[in-house]
Amino acid sequence: MKYPVDISVHPAVESFFDPQTNTISHVVVEQKTNACAVVDPVMDIDYAAGRITYDHADEIIAYIHKHDLKLEWLIETHVHADHLSAAPYLQSKLGGLIGIGEQITVVQDTFGKVFNEGTEFQRDGSQFDRLFKDGDTYQIGEITAFAMHTPGHTPACMVHVVGDAAFVGDTLFMPDGGSARADFPGGDAGQLYDSIQKVLALPDEMRLFMCHDYAPGGRDIMWETTVAEEKAENIHVGKGTSRAKFIRFRKARDATLQMPNLILPSLQVNMRAGVLPKGDGGKPMLKVPLNAI
Ligand SMILES: [Fe+2]
Repeated sequence: MKYPVDISVHPAVESFFDPQTNTISHVVVEQKTNACAVVDPVMDIDYAAGRITYDHADEIIAYIHKHDLKLEWLIETHVHADHLSAAPYLQSKLGGLIGIGEQITVVQDTFGKVFNEGTEFQRDGSQFDRLFKDGDTYQIGEITAFAMHTPGHTPACMVHVVGDAAFVGDTLFMPDGGSARADFPGGDAGQLYDSIQKVLALPDEMRLFMCHDYAPGGRDIMWETTVAEEKAENIHVGKGTSRAKFIRFRKARDATLQMPNLILPSLQVNMRAGVLPKGDGGKPMLKVPLNAI
């Protein structure tokens, strides 16, 4: 696939860190017309109390209002398993279209079974406004952005490229963080390696924006690097690490990892494009399937 890369375009990026889930949401701005997209917005949950709030999303809304931006897209890099999406909340306040990779249908099929969803839960991606295929383009104001299919962490993962800024989702972490796990249902370490190579094939100067950072070694939280830095320094895939070595390492490491705290609420909400599931009587309600994942 030949992607329409254009690193002569430099959108502004403002980032918002969520300390509860170590997620970074980004606002990417096309400065000529003040159009913007939000990548991976987070909805707050106190899981123990079953309480949803919107402080993180409200911060993003305040930024968009303050700078008089027009929200055109709400981009999910994938179905997150560690935080809930605030895309519908942002859409209700500011408009914009919610987009995700077309392989969402695979994820919906898998977890529709896990959560024993009935036939009213559609597994065709219709909860989203746009399903991206590999190489699809879309406009943010006058910038033509594109999506690259990067499966491995999950089947629906996409990296979104806007001029010289790429939003890598959970394909890569900062060079000292390495890569994301590949052991969720539908994940695959070999596929993840191949997807990472697609990202590393972008121009060296491409700015890469992370979805997560866990501050290894106690350093400050960071979320921006470049292709050149990842190729040189990434502790899992840098310096030309082979596919076989990566797969061996990734499988051994993943076998030691606990499930994320918020995986059960996250999947139920995010596979519905961020809309809360409903229980009996139509009230918002989550399920806890036992021994299912
Ligand atoms: Fe993820």
